Amino acid sequence: MPQFNEAELTAAVIRSFDNTPNPRAKFLLQELVKSLHDYVSKTNLTFDEWDYAINFLTRTGHTCTDIRQEFILLSDVLGVSMLVDAVNHRDRDGATETTVLGPFYVGEHKVTAHGTDISEALDGERMYVQTRVTDLEGKPIANAPVDVWHADGDGYYDSQKPEFLTEGPVSRARFITDADGSFHFKTILPCSYPVPTDGPVGEMIKQTNRHPMRPAHIHFLVAAKGYEPLITHVFMEGDKYLDSDVVFGVKDELIAKIEKRSDATMPDGSKASAPWHLMTYEFHVKPGEGAPPAPLGTKPAKVSEPAE
Ligand code: BEZ
Ligand code: FE
Repeated sequence: MPQFNEAELTAAVIRSFDNTPNPRAKFLLQELVKSLHDYVSKTNLTFDEWDYAINFLTRTGHTCTDIRQEFILLSDVLGVSMLVDAVNHRDRDGATETTVLGPFYVGEHKVTAHGTDISEALDGERMYVQTRVTDLEGKPIANAPVDVWHADGDGYYDSQKPEFLTEGPVSRARFITDADGSFHFKTILPCSYPVPTDGPVGEMIKQTNRHPMRPAHIHFLVAAKGYEPLITHVFMEGDKYLDSDVVFGVKDELIAKIEKRSDATMPDGSKASAPWHLMTYEFHVKPGEGAPPAPLGTKPAKVSEPAE
């Protein structure tokens, strides 16, 4: 007869998963039990604290909607998203560094002509973005779809606003690379912004005296056929939150120098009515497989069988 006391309980719970048919699921569950039990023992967790945690997770779930994923935000601010990213991208071999997808990737970006101002209706200092996608040897990759998205001048993504459903995307597009692997577009200079703070995750951030800010950035998702999908951001040099991103997403290599320009025309010959900014960045992708991510954690729940 097993004794379900502090000394023997953990082993009994681990054994209860011994007959799990999927070996990866068995491993993940048994390790989860070990880590959770270790946390409870180490902290001498009280009933009130356990109750608080259950209530916090319940409220986190209730805050999720079709267009808001509070659990991803929780994972982000605890550094779990970046750790999952790190363990899955240990060998970059010269490929561009990755970072979090974030909760504002909504998929289905519209293919947009090079040179388009994707924030035409928004006030803000204009920026011309010129980029190129190559393989690890510097060979240009043509016809690669690249999704781009960023926040507006007030720090909100289009998908956080009700107009998104009626008026469509703003500061969000898909570009297809040309024969030289290049594409360019215009937009506003993005600003730093807070992650949503009106839910339980924001409450935790405030109560622990952390700030909720992300440094200014543009998201890029490069999905070239025959290459690993590249999920990354390009950050603006000089932003005051680069050292303290609330989701721990900044890597040195992803910080771009932004040049201030006052030429009357931009590199594609279009007229500039005021001083503007130039961002230049090159992405390097690694041969491989993989589908681009499903937005907002909508993928069906399934743990894959490990490869033989
Ligand atoms: C974002 O960059 O869009 C983001 C990433 C993680 C949490 C919140 C926002
Ligand atoms: Fe973002």
